[in-house]
Amino acid sequence: MVAGAGFAEFGNDVLCADVDAEKVKRLNRGEIPIYEPGLESLVVRNTKEGRLQFTTDVNNAVSDVDVVFVAVGTPSAADGRADLSQVLNVARTVAENAQAFTIVVNKSTVPVGTADRVMAILREHGPGKDFAVVSNPEFLKEGDAVNDFMKPARVIIGTDDERARKKMRYLYEPFVRTVDRIFEMDARSAEVTKYACNAMLATRISFMNEIAALCSEVGADVAKVRVGMATDGRIGPRFLFPGVGYGGSCFPKDVKAIISTAADHGSELKILKAVEAVNERQKVLLADMVLKKLADRPAKELVVSLWGLAFKPHTDDVREAPAMTICRRLLDAGASLQLHDPVAGPCFAEELPPSERVRYFDHNFDAAQGADALLLVTEWPAYRRPDFRRLKKAMRTPLLFDGRNQWDPETVRELGFAYVGIGRP
Ligand SMILES: NC(=O)c1ccc[n+]([C@@H]2O[C@H](COP(=O)([O-])OP(=O)(O)OC[C@H]3O[C@@H](n4cnc5c(N)ncnc54)[C@H](O)[C@@H]3O)[C@@H](O)[C@H]2O)c1
Repeated sequence: MVAGAGFAEFGNDVLCADVDAEKVKRLNRGEIPIYEPGLESLVVRNTKEGRLQFTTDVNNAVSDVDVVFVAVGTPSAADGRADLSQVLNVARTVAENAQAFTIVVNKSTVPVGTADRVMAILREHGPGKDFAVVSNPEFLKEGDAVNDFMKPARVIIGTDDERARKKMRYLYEPFVRTVDRIFEMDARSAEVTKYACNAMLATRISFMNEIAALCSEVGADVAKVRVGMATDGRIGPRFLFPGVGYGGSCFPKDVKAIISTAADHGSELKILKAVEAVNERQKVLLADMVLKKLADRPAKELVVSLWGLAFKPHTDDVREAPAMTICRRLLDAGASLQLHDPVAGPCFAEELPPSERVRYFDHNFDAAQGADALLLVTEWPAYRRPDFRRLKKAMRTPLLFDGRNQWDPETVRELGFAYVGIGRP
């Protein structure tokens, strides 16, 4: 949807096709089915101006177009490999319905070799027809997706087909007018690039979570260590924040998938296996710290409040959200939960329905009322500077678990809270 709206913004005619009829119905009514800042106005404007349309008629959508961007899901299969069934289905649809030369672009995150598999399907199911395949991985971030798409840090075009390369350049040049950030390469290198990026980012997170664990052990403060590291130009300041572990629809599945790809080729990605293991431990850390700190009370009497349910701020995406792991651990122990998120409550409730022990609140202070512990899980801006005096009155036990190191330990301790952060003394 972001890519579709982004291409339409530069004057292209875009037809977005999805097999999910409910999504398409909502989009045709002008409703955006996900929370993504800036997307609504882009979609509404381009729809009104006639360049952007939505349909469930997938066959027709691919029959008479220059380029088909494949942006379907590639979730983890049970064995950790990327499940390519949606991508391969689309390839078959294109093969059967294309009327003229069609460029098929893999925008979904797919393992190395998928462009070749897509081409094989196109040839098998569309004999005699003319196709080109491009690997064009997507690097946008949820929560800042429109900005990332409209001003990409880089555009990767992986293909050996000269016609496709020219067409992709033509499509993307308006996005990178100031500095040419288009990199051309073969499809396999493009496919690996995407996984290597996500794997590196996940590695930085797990690395900092390990450094945080060390800091806790030795009485150092990772918040200070981080600043000291960040000023080294070779390291840089971004993605150095310890927390409750990485989640979302990309890092967990992509780390698993690249590990599986390597295994399929007889090699072992040792660092990434460790990255996964550290992350699994980190996701339960906050819940375990709560249960340990309040071990003198029967767990079934504990009321725990969580602020933040989305896997990160500015999205309602809860796929693989650490908040879900934390909630399940606390529920298993017998605790009751009071939950708040500025936007992700309804999505979270689909997986964890409200019950006597799971209650959702519209206001974060209501979610903290009567709580024995408050866990800051997602660093939404609205949680950064709460009225701590009011919070102290609301809570039954003034105990803060700051999963994102957002609060100043001294300030909250002076106000009478017990404070536990990540990697802080
Ligand atoms: N979400 C992100 O931030 C992000 C960033 C970069 C890359 N990616 C990659 O992009 C891909 C899509 O991710 P997503 O989060 O948008 O997934 P998603 O599951 O939210 O959306 C995929 C959509 O594809 C539709 N679909 C499935 N089969 C179809 C078919 N045959 N024809 C038409 N539509 C079909 C589904 O109904 C669904 O609406 C994944 O490979 C992901 O790794 C995602």
